[in-house]
Amino acid sequence: MAKILVTGGTGYIGSHTVVELQKVGFDVVIVDNLSNSNIDVLVGIEKISGKAPAFENIDCVDYVSMDKMFEKHKDIDAIIHFAAFKAVGESVEKPLMYYRNNLVSLINMLQLMPIHKVKNLVFSSSCTVYGQPDELPVTENAPIKIAQSPYGNTKQIGEEIIRDTIHANSNYQSIILRYFNPIGAHSSAELGELPNGVPNNLLPFVTQTAIGLRKQLQVFGNDYNTPDGSCIRDYINVVDLAKAHVIAVQRMLNNKTKSNVETFNLGTGTGLSVLEIIETFENVNGVKIPFKIVPRREGDIEKVWANPTYANTELGWTAKETVEETLRSSWAWEQNLAKRAKAE
Ligand code: UFG
Repeated sequence: MAKILVTGGTGYIGSHTVVELQKVGFDVVIVDNLSNSNIDVLVGIEKISGKAPAFENIDCVDYVSMDKMFEKHKDIDAIIHFAAFKAVGESVEKPLMYYRNNLVSLINMLQLMPIHKVKNLVFSSSCTVYGQPDELPVTENAPIKIAQSPYGNTKQIGEEIIRDTIHANSNYQSIILRYFNPIGAHSSAELGELPNGVPNNLLPFVTQTAIGLRKQLQVFGNDYNTPDGSCIRDYINVVDLAKAHVIAVQRMLNNKTKSNVETFNLGTGTGLSVLEIIETFENVNGVKIPFKIVPRREGDIEKVWANPTYANTELGWTAKETVEETLRSSWAWEQNLAKRAKAE
């Protein structure tokens, strides 16, 4: 069976993807320097899939170590490159840290691919490349807007680096996946999102408020031009998202791609407001989320949701899980974390 390198494989989306890859029989090598994840994630992966992936604690920015890694784990067929920093606010404070980490690691992958004869790359991009789209739902052909943050810029530049590199060497191919807002956890509650420190993103803040780790959720603005005044996003179940990576890898390995670089939106096609998410979370889980409306957060886009038709038709992939089930899984994961913390 083919062997897949998953960089950032102990991270949130990475770990769920490793499970789905192993489920269909792929051999997986994870490279992660644990800068924003925990080694225990490997236990969760093994519990669910019954198989421990190979693991290498390496920073992808370290070219020499990555070169050795490819020597050791010979015959890698494809890379899924998740490893990156992803906090928008932090990227504004520490731009060089973001440019260095996110871009040097990608350049290293692209340089090492021909040396080690790896032809296929899946790249984690983001709907952030669209900024505030002029038309909704947004398609892959929508214009790329000036990035709102260094983080967003690393995704835009990353896409360009891939296109230019593959244009110069057409033996290689890449599938660029533009994620909307991933939420939820594995249905077993053995894997989920595990942010370090105070969460930046909505869902981990909601669950940590529900469990009592945070006093109150802040809702950033209720004066947007949306039905209830709060921002709208396309929240996509993380396991659905993970499955799209398996399909992308299979598509490349089976020579089904239509061009050397393909780009897909991964979203549900439905936009939900922050207040709708809170209300649904409360209803499906029977818990209250104390919240208050505070001023808008700098850099937030008012509304964005995907047109996922291209992924639906070309990849044969559709987001299946309902938002209700997804929000249940987030809560089950948070409760499982609390149980574990108590037992320690
Ligand atoms: N929000 C709150 N309170 C919070 C956190 C978030 O009201 O405590 C709101 C935000 O204002 C926004 C929505 O919830 O309207 C979603 O915010 P997130 O921070 O969860 O997600 P973003 O849409 O800002 O960005 C996320 C990731 C980025 C990624 C982007 C698009 O953080 O890394 O999705 O993929 F680029």
